[in-house]
Amino acid sequence: MCGIVGYVGKKSVVGILLDGLEQLEYRGYDSAGVAIKTEDAINVYKAEGKLGNLRDVLTAHLSEVSSSTVGIGHIRWATHGAPSVINAHPHTCNCGNLVIVHNGIIENYKELKIELEAMGCKFRSQTDTESVAHLIAAIYDKEKDLTKAVHIATQKIQGAYALCIMHNDFPKKIVATKRNAPLVIGVGDGEYYIASDVPAFIKHTKNAVYLQDNQVATITNDSFKIEDENGKVIEPKVEVLPWEPVALSKMGYKHFMLKEIHEQPDIIRNILVGKIKTSDSPIVLNEVNLTRETLKNLNRIQIIACGTSLHAALIGKYIIEDFCNIPVDVEASSEYIYRKTVTDENTLVIGVSQSGETADTLTAIKQSKARGSHILIITNRPDSAMAREADSLLSVNAGIEVSVAATKSYMAQLTSFYLLAIYMAEIKGSKSAESLKELKAEMLLLPQKLEQILTQKQQIQACARKYANTRDFIYIARGINYPTALEGALKLKEISYINATGYPAGELKHGPIAMLDETMPVLSILMNGSVYEKLLSNSEEAKARNARMIALTNSNNPKLNDLFDDIIRVPDVVELLSPLIAIVPLQLIAYYIAEFLGKDVDQPRNLAKSVTVE
Ligand code: AGP
Repeated sequence: MCGIVGYVGKKSVVGILLDGLEQLEYRGYDSAGVAIKTEDAINVYKAEGKLGNLRDVLTAHLSEVSSSTVGIGHIRWATHGAPSVINAHPHTCNCGNLVIVHNGIIENYKELKIELEAMGCKFRSQTDTESVAHLIAAIYDKEKDLTKAVHIATQKIQGAYALCIMHNDFPKKIVATKRNAPLVIGVGDGEYYIASDVPAFIKHTKNAVYLQDNQVATITNDSFKIEDENGKVIEPKVEVLPWEPVALSKMGYKHFMLKEIHEQPDIIRNILVGKIKTSDSPIVLNEVNLTRETLKNLNRIQIIACGTSLHAALIGKYIIEDFCNIPVDVEASSEYIYRKTVTDENTLVIGVSQSGETADTLTAIKQSKARGSHILIITNRPDSAMAREADSLLSVNAGIEVSVAATKSYMAQLTSFYLLAIYMAEIKGSKSAESLKELKAEMLLLPQKLEQILTQKQQIQACARKYANTRDFIYIARGINYPTALEGALKLKEISYINATGYPAGELKHGPIAMLDETMPVLSILMNGSVYEKLLSNSEEAKARNARMIALTNSNNPKLNDLFDDIIRVPDVVELLSPLIAIVPLQLIAYYIAEFLGKDVDQPRNLAKSVTVE
């Protein structure tokens, strides 16, 4: 899981590569490197750590490469070999004439290495990638055709990859290919950009070609040619990208995460436009390509996802079962793919993924598709690999999410689940028209309620700071907000590195209560509704063990003032919609704690936004 960029054109390449890599930092950020074609060589520059270190290296060598117009770059999230200069990409063959950058995993790299060492290749790094550099170089030495060498090499390599390759014999050429990893070519005026993702070049061009698996692109300053795996030239499909460059700016916020939290009211508004016209009219969800008959006869739904998307899926289960009377299973994709799962053509399989790239979810979806299930994908990236597997595609339209910690995409996924559940309930007639009407009316009010929470952010910040020095944190909830507790805890963990755990409150007394004492904060997600009284009792049990008690609540019960040390109040909302409200203060608590502790909020250690390895 890394980011790759490439450029062939007429502009100075250094800035283009560095800016492109900066936009891909969400994919990894433990080391970075570039290879730049100069008059008589290909120069490679690498640095361990954040991209700023590579910038410093290049600044020191600027005179060597400032006039160059061809190059490739890489930002790494280590899988094979520690983050270090030697393991950073680009990797070269032994003579240094061939350079490559790679995103993905070469599964048979050990076998290749044995073969290549026997042929005299000397390996310098611990990466899987280096074997591909030696392999292509060895084939090129015989064939003297770089594109052909790439075709032959990719028949030998197993695994997932997006590759960009340059050779010193060709002053203005990059060859690129991919299998199960994203790669897109930006088409400019007399120039071409190559990247793992659109943000790397969107400010230069909106015209792009998504490379398909096993295709090989040969790109020069004035042409590009795409061949299928058999070497047959194919007509490229140039698309006009919908993204706006402004979406990638912090717009005055200190971090992308804070900006993205603030975008949530508008995201809900945008999703609801055209889908809920009035509370009286049925939901419009033309994206669902299942006949009304099939929807009525569905006997099972499986939802597959990872991380934050998994938490959205758990809430999806709750509401679909409640509204539609269909059994729903939710499973982490990484578990789903390694066991015998029971799906057939009467099972609807829903894949949820912000990035649409997550390897585990993609594999799970492909498995279910092969078994004949209808595949519905809920994603923020309609241009992703997962979207291409969809029979029905619910694009959540949250805009590019830059911060590694998912916030606005979670909100958009949840909103989409509510729309889907209401849509199916309307078709099945499984919930009263009156209750669905009330729910739709309430949904239309959500954006204002979220805005109201955001106006109280100073109070939430003050509360967050009181708990910033804790080592552990417990979140408790029941019912529909149990996944909210999991998501609140995940947010805190990933950006502040505080050990936070979400529990169903009823489970506290079955073990976790042993951890409670005056050092342990317990945050209770105490929303009005069916489990309010039960959760209140569980909070009292925690208080009796001297825990530091925090309430996140829409209740005005005066009793809470004695029970809780801190109370974060949110606008009133019906219980079924409360996860959409309750998550916002939890995102802010995590954000303010991490910001107060001086953590790298948008790029937490050890993480990457798109997890394209299993
Ligand atoms: C969220 O804050 C995480 N960084 C992570 O758990 C993420 O949700 C997970 O990796 C799944 O990603 P996806 O939604 O792009 O599939």
